[in-house]
Amino acid sequence: MTEMGYNWLCALYQFFIKHSRSICRVAVDADGKVVGLAVGGDSHIREEFLNSALFRYPHLIFWKFLSKRMVRRVLLQELARKLLRKHTTENSVNIKAPSAGIRSGNLLSICVLPDCEGTGVAGKLIESFQLACKAEGYERLTLSVVSDDNRAVTFYKKHGWRQSGKSGESIRLFLDL
Ligand SMILES: CC(C)(COP(=O)(O)OP(=O)(O)OC[C@H]1O[C@@H](n2cnc3c(N)ncnc32)[C@H](O)[C@@H]1OP(=O)(O)O)[C@@H](O)C(=O)NCCC(=O)NCCS
Repeated sequence: MTEMGYNWLCALYQFFIKHSRSICRVAVDADGKVVGLAVGGDSHIREEFLNSALFRYPHLIFWKFLSKRMVRRVLLQELARKLLRKHTTENSVNIKAPSAGIRSGNLLSICVLPDCEGTGVAGKLIESFQLACKAEGYERLTLSVVSDDNRAVTFYKKHGWRQSGKSGESIRLFLDL
């Protein structure tokens, strides 16, 4: 998502913040200035955003598809997932996913301002996000992170997240609430 640029990210976060099934937590300092953000919730919101973005930003998507390897890979994965789901539904094949039956939510993104890194703000933010998800009835959370982002991976593991898989340059993590 970051590869898509500033306007895309603004649209993405606005989409999440306005969505009725999202869970968003904001960290503010003593003056009320926003210093961090955790955004996620229902696992389908990201897909809903991508569907709407296909019509809102076709040129941007096309350009990034051509110029960014990571974007190309993710978009092709999304397409394959959609086709596979359609095929599975059409043929009424009922293969249960490993987490079938578990109500699973997603942490799309967490970030704090560079000045706040290492201060514990991000820890409070993720704990608050996790509690809010649990209160909403989620039993498991998932996320995807670039595997060489050692700081983020260490951060998530410190907060109890465990690795469930790997695809390309990303690893998938989960947390049972
Ligand atoms: C990811 C993020 C939210 C973590 O917040 P933070 O305040 O840095 O987190 P913490 O300091 O509590 O934890 C980071 C851990 O990584 C460790 N760390 C720092 N740099 C590291 C590196 N290069 N390699 C491995 N570990 C590293 C820290 O020592 C710390 O572990 P410790 O508490 O055991 O010492 C924050 O760095 C951030 O906003 N990054 C930019 C956005 C981002 O990458 N978001 C995640 C992807 S969606």
